[in-house]
Amino acid sequence: MFKFRVLAAAAFGAAAVLGAASAGAQDAPAGDAAHGRMVFLKEACFTCHGRVGEGGAYNTPAPVLAQTALPLEGFKAQIRNPVNDMPAYSDAVLSDKDIADIYAFVKSLPGPRSAKDIPILNN
Ligand code: HEC
Repeated sequence: MFKFRVLAAAAFGAAAVLGAASAGAQDAPAGDAAHGRMVFLKEACFTCHGRVGEGGAYNTPAPVLAQTALPLEGFKAQIRNPVNDMPAYSDAVLSDKDIADIYAFVKSLPGPRSAKDIPILNN
């Protein structure tokens, strides 16, 4: 877990640097979220991370993916070389495009809501 935090921190740092250096990358075509959803279900990501990326505890606790704060490169690094219990996916199984599409899909998910957004809890 410690190793993973280091990776995540490095990924965030790299994203900050890349973001500042290459604003042009923002113009790259966004991933195809509909295809990403299909791959997410087909490759069984959902068994651990939940159908809407809500996270789960099927085997060991798997983090929430909806609205991930990871940059695409960090997201991809975890899929290619997982830090801990997650199985690895080589590009024979998942292409870089598939990963970019999954990324677009999880970014499109609403993610957890705060209690104040749930009407019945505010009556
Ligand atoms: C067998 C359960 C399992 C499956 C299947 C699985 N994961 Fe994971 N995933 C995990 C666990 C557990 C972690 C926590 C880190 C670790 O153990 O490597 C994780 C971490 C992640 C992370 C890092 C998220 C963060 O914010 O910390 C990403 C991204 C991710 N998984 C994406 C995927 C994708 C995409 C798939 C399908 C291609 C997938 N995972 C399939 C269990 C799974």
